[in-house]
Amino acid sequence: MKVLGIFGSPRKGGNTDILLEETLKGSQEEGAEVDRIFLTDYVITPCKECHGCDQTGQCVILDDMQKIYPKLLESDIIILASPIFFYGVTAWAKALIDRSQALWAKKYLLKDPSLGKEGRKKKGFFISVGATKGPRVFEGAILTVKYFFDTFNAEYAGELVFRGVDGKGDILLKHPETLKQAFEAGRKLVKDR
Ligand SMILES: Cc1cc2nc3c(=O)[nH]c(=O)nc-3n(C[C@H](O)[C@H](O)[C@H](O)COP(=O)(O)O)c2cc1C
Repeated sequence: MKVLGIFGSPRKGGNTDILLEETLKGSQEEGAEVDRIFLTDYVITPCKECHGCDQTGQCVILDDMQKIYPKLLESDIIILASPIFFYGVTAWAKALIDRSQALWAKKYLLKDPSLGKEGRKKKGFFISVGATKGPRVFEGAILTVKYFFDTFNAEYAGELVFRGVDGKGDILLKHPETLKQAFEAGRKLVKDR
């Protein structure tokens, strides 16, 4: 079973990186093959809304996103981690998400059976943190991520989100119990599939 971890924070070794890494360790412990994508290592141009994908399901922009499309399609479990930036995901993650419009076209315009009801079932999981404690801080991001997962047939399997986390590594200082939760979430995703 293939698990893809997508690191969406520009801060290497920051809070969401720590959580995602621990989640992936849990998945590995259950025997999954794990692949990691650090979005800051990739050049992903934002969607140009050219509708070049409408007829083919293929994006016409030939950048690093072309390496990511097959991974989104081939993985059984996709875990996206992004901190909250202005009540949404980071621009790094949003560029990836908007470029999944090509998969949306493949699924909904071209009705490709591999992304239809008969297609391979996958799961998607979201990890996030925010500095504030507002009750609605994750709402926008969760909705965005649910629709992102839907483009490649990944059922939304839930999220691990923590409020009041700001400085690099604060997740460990303020919520030391989270490492265990992240590890267990990674294991459960693989076990339940
Ligand atoms: C540009 C920017 C925008 C942010 N916007 C929000 C926000 O809207 N709400 C919030 O709770 N935290 C916000 N934060 C704080 C981050 O979510 C927080 O520092 C988080 O711990 C960073 O996680 P990381 O270490 O994984 O990068 C923002 C931080 C930055 C740099």
